[in-house]
Amino acid sequence: MKKTDYNEFLYDEDLKIKPIATAETIPSAWYTGKDFFEFDTKAVFTKTWQHVGYCGQILKQGDYFVTEVADNPLIVVRDKEKRIRAFYNVCLHRGGPVATKDGNTKVFQCRYHGWTYDLDGKLRGTPEFEGVDEFEKRNYCLAPIRVEEWGGMLFICLDDTVKPFETFIPGIRERILPNKLESKIFHKRVDYTIKCNWKVYVDNYLEGYHLNMVHPGLAKILDYRNYVTETNDHYSLQQSPFKDENGIYGSPDDMAYYYFVFPNFMMNILPGRLQTNLVIPVAHNETHVRFDYYYDEMDTDEANKFIEDDLRISDEIQAEDIDICEHVQKGLRSDAYDKGRFSVKREECVYHFQCLLKMAYKSAF
Ligand code: FES
Ligand SMILES: [Fe+2]
Repeated sequence: MKKTDYNEFLYDEDLKIKPIATAETIPSAWYTGKDFFEFDTKAVFTKTWQHVGYCGQILKQGDYFVTEVADNPLIVVRDKEKRIRAFYNVCLHRGGPVATKDGNTKVFQCRYHGWTYDLDGKLRGTPEFEGVDEFEKRNYCLAPIRVEEWGGMLFICLDDTVKPFETFIPGIRERILPNKLESKIFHKRVDYTIKCNWKVYVDNYLEGYHLNMVHPGLAKILDYRNYVTETNDHYSLQQSPFKDENGIYGSPDDMAYYYFVFPNFMMNILPGRLQTNLVIPVAHNETHVRFDYYYDEMDTDEANKFIEDDLRISDEIQAEDIDICEHVQKGLRSDAYDKGRFSVKREECVYHFQCLLKMAYKSAF
């Protein structure tokens, strides 16, 4: 087996894409290598659309929030014309932050030496800068980033050559039409920290194979026999009807949709609610996962009871997933394991994710 020239972790053989029936899972070093982490996240996260928040965070002119993608500090703002814009949160003087927390402003002021920028990124004020030659303010504007809105959510992309977000998710809007995402109301954000590589969490999300073993409670709600999966170029869908007429989420005619948009975004759509999961790599062995909950209704006692039950059930499921993911991270680190195999019947979406990952690594060179 020959290593590629470009990275000590990437062997040509491991980057090959084989049919699922003969394919092996990706090697453990891709999950556990400290030095691989930077390559991994840059190759994948700077070249894809990334969920950063939702429109409700910046409803008024001047509302903004700060965030990060692949180690890049960013700012997303609603400007004076009510247009949504995104910039690197990096002052062009000496790299200071133009905002450190979410808020509302007429102008961004760098925390370091006080340069100011308009909401469209133009450099406005440069205190005590007289006598600097060949300095044109227009060459020192905040660097803009592409930002798009979809279903009331906001996505940015650090790469100008990547196609618009909508081209990566054909068919989703049509399929979930009755679940009008735009009209759902944001309720709550819950953050989790998990001691595993981000790909362990994504792999785990992408199969229902572990349902009966890991989630006895959820197994009572979902009809595993009729659980189906499908893959599209850049996303996959796991879909399941409910088991019980009287379940909290719906009847056997209703459907749970679990959408995964490569590389790290999930939309879990059940009747009356949308839950998004954003998987944020922190280190080779640490991941944050951000759950945002949106509901159709929040005003009645019945709606509140549903929300309370939904949050409790989701938190239980997440605790079960965290526990298994942290064990898997340990297993991947052990001397006994390198690569495994896929269930053709149940792990199609994991295989699909790992194929996309290999393509992302290959195109990073
Ligand atoms: S780094 Fe921003 S004003 Fe100096
Ligand atoms: Fe799970």
